[in-house]
Amino acid sequence: MKPYIYLTRKLPEEAVKNLQASFQVNMWDRDDVAVPEDILLAEAEKAHALLTVVSDQITGDLLRAGKNLKVVANMAVGFDNIDVEAATKQGIYICNTPDVLTETTADLTFALLTATARRIVEAAEFVKEGNWKSWSPFLLAGQDIYNKTIGICGMGKIGEGVARRAKGFGMEILYHNRTRKPETEQELGARYRSLESLLESSDFVVSLTPLTSETRHLFNQSAFRKMKSSAIFINASRGAVADEEALVHALKTREIAGAGLDVFVEEPISADHPLLKLPNVVALPHIGSASLETRMVMISVCVDNIERVLKGKEPRTIVNP
Ligand code: DGY
Repeated sequence: MKPYIYLTRKLPEEAVKNLQASFQVNMWDRDDVAVPEDILLAEAEKAHALLTVVSDQITGDLLRAGKNLKVVANMAVGFDNIDVEAATKQGIYICNTPDVLTETTADLTFALLTATARRIVEAAEFVKEGNWKSWSPFLLAGQDIYNKTIGICGMGKIGEGVARRAKGFGMEILYHNRTRKPETEQELGARYRSLESLLESSDFVVSLTPLTSETRHLFNQSAFRKMKSSAIFINASRGAVADEEALVHALKTREIAGAGLDVFVEEPISADHPLLKLPNVVALPHIGSASLETRMVMISVCVDNIERVLKGKEPRTIVNP
């Protein structure tokens, strides 16, 4: 019997043909709707490998039910949707897709910053809705980006990519990270700050920190209170690093000026969520790495990791400690 692989989203045949050559491959038949939990569990019980996405919850129970499971290849750099500790106990490899999405995600993060500061989404809707009556001095006037201060919280590879873009905009770059990055400081002129000092000094506070027990609700009421009233908060990492209730309050009371959000605690965010009612919020559907080129490469990294494990080799990108 050929090993069985289950893919939790419909992926192009072209992208998975290597797997089909050697293994039995089955996939959820939608690319726009998540596989229901009961189907995922039933598939995990039979599968030797799973190809998953960020919205799949790969719990300890599911991993323990996967008696044949050898590898879970998650199509993302983040892996907070997976109980890695339980997987490691079960001897299951957890793989991610680092590096290949760095520049694409940095592009989107900077685009979100630009869109929020310069009110681009609002302005585009304004024209399409036929509201443009005349040129006017302060029509949809936003905030400058060049020469401002950006505070990057989480200076990993994507953070460095955002810092490089910020340098091109003549921005002053501050960062906060678990460890200092002397090379980044030297190359980009980035300056290390405590979280408190970064929040107080930045015009743009950008979250690129992974979601862990330490970073959950890092951006809470006290953090938003420390920010400038003109500050814009950008979140392109994980929704739960921010306390959304505190964020709504900070935006409503103008404790901060705006937010650009690519990620939310609940995804998809419900259309009646208070955040989506605010004019000073730009909201995107978790598309940080969503370019055609990058998504195809991310799939191929997952495919390669699965193929290697099922052929008895080490995967290339392992997240188990
Ligand atoms: C990641 O790679 O972690 C992204 O959030 C998924 O697009």
